[in-house]
Amino acid sequence: MSQRVYIFDTTLRDGEQSPGVSLSINEKVQIARQLARLGVDIIEAGFPISSPGDFEGVRAVAREVKGVTVAGLARANLRDIDRTWEAVRQAEQPRIHTFIATSDIHLKYKLRLSREQVLEAAVAAVKHARSYTEDVEFSAEDASRSDPEFLVQVLTATIKAGARVINIPDTVGYAVPGEWGGFIKTICERVAGIDRAIVSVHCHNDLGLAVANSLVAVSNGARQVEGAINGIGERAGNAALEEVIMALHTRKDQFGYYTGARTEEIYRTSRLVSTLTGMKVQPNKAIVGNNAFAHEAGIHQDGVLKERTTYEIMNPAMVGLSKSNLVMGKHSGRHAFRQRLEDMGFSLSDEELSRAFEHFKKLADKKSNITDEDIEAIVEEEMHLVPDSYTLDYLHISSGTTVVPTATIGLRKEGKLLEEAACGNGPVDAICKAVDKITKIQCTMISWGISAITAGKDALGDVTLKITRDGQKVYAGRGISTDILEASAKAYVNAVNKMIWDANQEQSRPAGNNTGNNKI
Ligand code: KIV
Ligand code: ZN
Repeated sequence: MSQRVYIFDTTLRDGEQSPGVSLSINEKVQIARQLARLGVDIIEAGFPISSPGDFEGVRAVAREVKGVTVAGLARANLRDIDRTWEAVRQAEQPRIHTFIATSDIHLKYKLRLSREQVLEAAVAAVKHARSYTEDVEFSAEDASRSDPEFLVQVLTATIKAGARVINIPDTVGYAVPGEWGGFIKTICERVAGIDRAIVSVHCHNDLGLAVANSLVAVSNGARQVEGAINGIGERAGNAALEEVIMALHTRKDQFGYYTGARTEEIYRTSRLVSTLTGMKVQPNKAIVGNNAFAHEAGIHQDGVLKERTTYEIMNPAMVGLSKSNLVMGKHSGRHAFRQRLEDMGFSLSDEELSRAFEHFKKLADKKSNITDEDIEAIVEEEMHLVPDSYTLDYLHISSGTTVVPTATIGLRKEGKLLEEAACGNGPVDAICKAVDKITKIQCTMISWGISAITAGKDALGDVTLKITRDGQKVYAGRGISTDILEASAKAYVNAVNKMIWDANQEQSRPAGNNTGNNKI
């Protein structure tokens, strides 16, 4: 059996099912491009039947992202499969991923189908998908709680019907490693025709075991691992792919398998996913958390300075955490700035570069030493993944312990300056109210958070927030500035711009094409 493990990334599908995450089409394409740079083998770009936005997102990724298989998810019925094919067909390597639950709990309460009916639907779905493409994956949802006899029957039949990949999900994160390894081994031994398919696992993290379960599955015959960057996904999330990749890489002596991932792209991918989804990475998160390579104790620091490997099992450079020796500051020119961006792997259009350079110069007037993290934040802000309906022109705040917080704000729309003032129960509240008066959109703030991009009193403040209008769709906004109120205003305007853009997209779709946001 081959020692190659295929990495199936579902950040844009299961990951996007994280509560409060909603990515625009451009954001999906940006993430997918970075996933391709990371070297994942398959990108599951969405669930096309679930909403017009998901359909367009999958279609855009299929059209624009090269060198990787692009999959779309479909329930085991003809309509879902037709829609998924429509979305992925332009990919260099399209895949249809169809699924149906096999556990008795799901059959009885959710599907209200008999085992015979499920078997029939699974086989029909795979056959229909095969009429479009050879690359068909079948998933037995809730496999870990399914009767192994029935699971073997379904997987044998779906391979016979033409499935190239059979996925065995631990949908509810119930499995524990020893048991799960044995389960995968038994399935691999008992399913007839298994040598014609790749065995895949898709582990959820409800008990914090998703990565461990994925690895034990590989040791027992799985050759595709599904997961998401930063471990995002439904409930407690999916297996964190960066952890799976680095565990296989770092402990090759134990596992003996390899992936096609370019590990140096891990950190950048994690940052991009965190920024665009608005889901912060916990500081102590393995591989990509801020503290993952930080040494606090004096004994540890001393050890690392003498010999890095005393306390580091991975070189930070291996996950893309290398630091440049080139100091960027107010004397740096456009050429040096462009060069630094290229070294960091960013490719910006001339217009984006001009905006980013202008932003960099303004920051350099306030902050003496500009780090890679600062540059990354500037670039992400200036990449304009959705068009700006409004931009912040100026902000004036009056606040303190004895005055009513008041914000006066100027926004530009198509070059025209629009101004309003509002009071609030705090300066951020006043800013949001003033913006709402200008845009005439009433939004509810769901969350607001701030972090410093680097250490130091002059650090850039990085505000991420989430807003909603209807309580259903949530839009994340981000703003950075050395002034945290300006950062808040920029983040709020950024989220409102996404909301407006999304509404425009929905309106421009043909009537009858809106099936509502219907994620699984
Ligand atoms: O968790 C799960 O079972 C899934 C399937 C659709 C693969 O996400
Ligand atoms: Zn899942």
